[in-house]
Amino acid sequence: MTDSVTVRAPAKINLHLGVGPVRADGYHPLTTVYQAIGLYDDVTAHASADWSVEVTAVGSVDVSGVPLDESNIALRAAVQLMERHAVPGACRLEIAKGIPVAGGLAGGSADAAATLVAVDRLFDLRASDEELVEIAAGLGSDVPFALVGGTAAGSGRGELVARVPDAGSWWWVVLPSAEGLSTPAVYHAFDDGFPGSTARPEALLTALAAGDADGLGSALENDLEGPALLLRPDLRPVHDAIRDSSALGELLSGSGPTFLALARDARHARALAAELRGAGHRDALVAPAPVAGAHVVEY
Ligand code: C5P
Repeated sequence: MTDSVTVRAPAKINLHLGVGPVRADGYHPLTTVYQAIGLYDDVTAHASADWSVEVTAVGSVDVSGVPLDESNIALRAAVQLMERHAVPGACRLEIAKGIPVAGGLAGGSADAAATLVAVDRLFDLRASDEELVEIAAGLGSDVPFALVGGTAAGSGRGELVARVPDAGSWWWVVLPSAEGLSTPAVYHAFDDGFPGSTARPEALLTALAAGDADGLGSALENDLEGPALLLRPDLRPVHDAIRDSSALGELLSGSGPTFLALARDARHARALAAELRGAGHRDALVAPAPVAGAHVVEY
């Protein structure tokens, strides 16, 4: 057995987020297209006598909102996998966070997915992909996607993922917000009368398969953008700044508050980030996509 394993997992965005009427279990049926982008959390798992989690920031990420008790989703992932395999003892997790917290980028889900892979390798459990995906789905709707990465269609409440053809090398400018937004609050605002549709996003899937950046830019759609802007009217200028920029398209990430601007290529992404920084969005980050799901980087 090795002493520690480090696994890297990416942030996700939803190129399309179609939301249907709330189900009896409180979740909403989704038709979504996920894409993994090049912002990462690294989770290092060590065998230990006690359970613990430590979180450090990479760059300007504010980690003060991440719980360090047993409610931490990465710890819950470790406990569940170790219990299922009757592994004695506990583990210590170190999370290096490059994904903005509570930003609609599924950073917590990335941590959970990375932890499942790290604990599996640390204790040589050889869990099947099916088992990891099953535990992932129980932890959160977008944890299975964080295992898989790339570009994938999501259905059910988001936990059922299937790869879709993606011929592009995409470049995003990511505009995080200093303040987070609660996912349940955004879904509740949606329930108060916003329109939504779970129809298949044909134009978007065609643009992805063709690697057509202009087509992708005009097909981006998120049914949670209206509700998120209702809860956070202060985000409207971010939306407007992207619309008025040279971006090919504008998108709210998941339930927000992070916004995304699509660039034509790497060079345009750097210029677009500078343009948006000039418009006052100092934290603009550049990220390529699609990237791999949770993968071992050190052991
Ligand atoms: O699955 P997850 O724990 O990430 O979901 C967090 C919350 O987001 C849920 O408790 C629910 O309020 C909302 N949600 C939803 N419909 C989905 C996914 C999440 O209403 N498909």
